[in-house]
Amino acid sequence: MWSGFPLFPEQASTTAGQVDALYFFLIALTAFFSLLIAALVFGFAVRYRRRSPDDRPPAIYGSLALELTWTLIPLVIVGVIFFWSADLYVTLSQVPKNAIEVNVVGKRWMWKLQHMTGQREINELHVPVGVPVKLSLTSEDVIHSFFVPAFRMKKDAVPGRYTTAWFQATKPGRYHLFCAEYCGTRHSNMIGTIVVLEPAAFQAWLAGGASGGSLASAGEKLFQDLACVTCHKADSGARGPNLVGVFGRPVALQDGSTVTADETYIRESIVAPSAKVVAGYQPIMPTFQGLVSEEQLLQLVAYVRTLKGTEVPPVPAAAAPAAAPATGTR
Ligand code: CUA
Repeated sequence: MWSGFPLFPEQASTTAGQVDALYFFLIALTAFFSLLIAALVFGFAVRYRRRSPDDRPPAIYGSLALELTWTLIPLVIVGVIFFWSADLYVTLSQVPKNAIEVNVVGKRWMWKLQHMTGQREINELHVPVGVPVKLSLTSEDVIHSFFVPAFRMKKDAVPGRYTTAWFQATKPGRYHLFCAEYCGTRHSNMIGTIVVLEPAAFQAWLAGGASGGSLASAGEKLFQDLACVTCHKADSGARGPNLVGVFGRPVALQDGSTVTADETYIRESIVAPSAKVVAGYQPIMPTFQGLVSEEQLLQLVAYVRTLKGTEVPPVPAAAAPAAAPATGTR
């Protein structure tokens, strides 16, 4: 009912209604007493006005009943406010057990978000409707504050520590994300969008379908564009190791040690190729640090996974089947 009025954004989370109820209670209470006192000030001023120059009011000797009334009624009122607020505070701080997790890093002047399943986003967060989402927040520089009015949720992102918040969206849509802590010149530009999707649409988004093609197919294109393919070929004379079938297998290194070719190793091999050189090869690969984004690294890793020969979902198990309810089992 308030969505057309900008002071009252729509309620789009399970706790928004509870926060608003307390808020409106406080507003109503304040308005009631403000009007009552204003009316009494005016009414008494008229009723007890000085009627003649020698007009003197009668002396007052106290009233126990009056003292008790104006002590006990406010006590009850502040008691209600206290217990109502405390109960709501506990609700807002206790993260539901089945929450999916998202890491939030504030940085002048952007929000960097990463899903547990690996997806990274900037100034945009995709979440499923009807599933609690736990946010773990921190900052790279100064204090920022993650504020989503439609969810009635605000939490500071503080450098050097993790803060936690959660929400459960109740309807699909796009909602404003603001930075609510002044953090420098472009503070007002540190804004974003929370995109709430139906569970099936969210699974499709997780699988990379929302942005045209899977992570792996994007990675395959990158593999060509960055000319990785010119060295990492199947023939024995290739300058780089053949990557087919390498994922998940142990790899013998130049220094005699062995490493398993997991996501971490492949990512490291792209950004810091000389860190772990495969036995029998020269450390001639240039670093791609700064040339590929974290998103592109994920795509390349996903592509290398598919080179295993078997069909590998581009994201880990929890996100795979579209039919499964999005309960966030990770
Ligand atoms: Cu970040 Cu204001």
